Amino acid sequence: MAKRPGIAVVGSANIDLTTFTEKFPKAGETIFGQKFDLGFGGKGANQAVASRLCGADVFMVARVGNDLFGPATIQNFKKLGIDATHVKQIEGVSSGVAPIFVEPNGQNRIWVVKGANDLLKPADVDAAADLLKTVDCMVLQFEIPLETVYYGVSFARKNGIRCIVNPAPAQPVDLNALAGLDYFVPNESEAETITGMPVRNVDDAKKCAEKLLSSGIKRVIITLGANGSLLASREGMEHVAAFSVKSIDSTGAGDAFIGSFAVFLGEGLPEREAVRRANLYAGLSTTGVGTQKSFYDRARYDADWAARAKS
Ligand code: RIB
Repeated sequence: MAKRPGIAVVGSANIDLTTFTEKFPKAGETIFGQKFDLGFGGKGANQAVASRLCGADVFMVARVGNDLFGPATIQNFKKLGIDATHVKQIEGVSSGVAPIFVEPNGQNRIWVVKGANDLLKPADVDAAADLLKTVDCMVLQFEIPLETVYYGVSFARKNGIRCIVNPAPAQPVDLNALAGLDYFVPNESEAETITGMPVRNVDDAKKCAEKLLSSGIKRVIITLGANGSLLASREGMEHVAAFSVKSIDSTGAGDAFIGSFAVFLGEGLPEREAVRRANLYAGLSTTGVGTQKSFYDRARYDADWAARAKS
């Protein structure tokens, strides 16, 4: 039986307010949307939930606001069996929220209001140090202050913990602060924003990954949506194809990829195989609406994986 990995997510928790729409209003115009969905989200929380549903022991370091959403978010972690000891409610700020708009082809646009996520500080990493030192892998994203991300990366490096950074949403980043990082996992548009290089196809992604690797990051995985992922290190680059799925909402697919990838790696799968399996986990998440609620649990995922292996 595979080893049960321990994963810590130092990151964001949001409430997702998702509107399904056929078009976007012009300035000053009011139009009808087709459907609305309210759910738990935030890149950090989504990644934690994906890891948990894939079977890992997960704990979360996060901040939520002094509003209706804060206690509900903590409750959601607990219900899923995620250790929320280091998820604290902050007085006088809102929880993170994300108005999301999804078009009929499943493509999404997301606004994030960081709220309490912006108050997750390096000292909060130190406060969770005892627990963090017990995990196989730490996962961070960019919906918390970058100083906390840099601090988390250096904490992981000092303590020999595998570390994954998802630079989402993309913003100018000091790549030198990430030197020695195990995995940097942007999608195409994040890779473009960070490097200033276009990523329209696999060849572009390879050039972009080369630039990222030159800053001292050990491995780069550029997720390419329906085109799979590019796995790159100084030893070489490989395009890992996606699986065919009926996609209706791609929101949270990148988070599904990262949360499941951390688990597959932690179970001891070779890197390329972990990417392949995470490609399927991410793909399957796009067949349902919403973020966390579209993620498969392990039994359902394994059944799909096995059925594809037979066909
Ligand atoms: O990656 C999807 C997530 O981005 C949503 O859950 C939203 O909260 C934003 O953080």
